[in-house]
Amino acid sequence: MSENLYLPSTTNRQEIYESLLPQIKALTSGESDLTANLANISAALKEAFNFFWVGFYLKKENQLVLGPFQGSIACTRIHFNKGVCGHAYTTKEIVIVPDVEAFPGHIACSSASKSEIVLPAKDKNGEVFLVLDVDSDELNDFSEVDAEGLSQIIQLIEEMAI
Ligand code: SME
Repeated sequence: MSENLYLPSTTNRQEIYESLLPQIKALTSGESDLTANLANISAALKEAFNFFWVGFYLKKENQLVLGPFQGSIACTRIHFNKGVCGHAYTTKEIVIVPDVEAFPGHIACSSASKSEIVLPAKDKNGEVFLVLDVDSDELNDFSEVDAEGLSQIIQLIEEMAI
């Protein structure tokens, strides 16, 4: 396993996602432990994009529970019907929120968080087993480029969990 990420010197997120994906594949392919892989994926995303907060909430019984992440301390439990994470869990869809203040029920783990994207990962029965939550301290920081790039990482996680 390579111990360093190679990151292109560009601010073009699409190029960074393209470079990152095979490296994340390499990083996780030899490891079967989901927690270890989620920990390295959150670290890789933090290093590549310097996101304000990036991490996972895992479905445990009837709640989403904080998993591996990078950033400041965060809410540990989220109900399925609460916040952006709950919305992504319930709808099973990617949710992009350009302004968290305008999202009804947004959970403010940090007042510095201004926009976010949340992606659900589904098991072979189509049930969501975790969500990837990325927060920014800038308004309107996420686009289809992030939805596409992060979806590919979600696909890897789904394959790992099978
Ligand atoms: N923003 C999330 C809560 C989790 S924290 O931001 C890390 C939400 O509203 O679902």
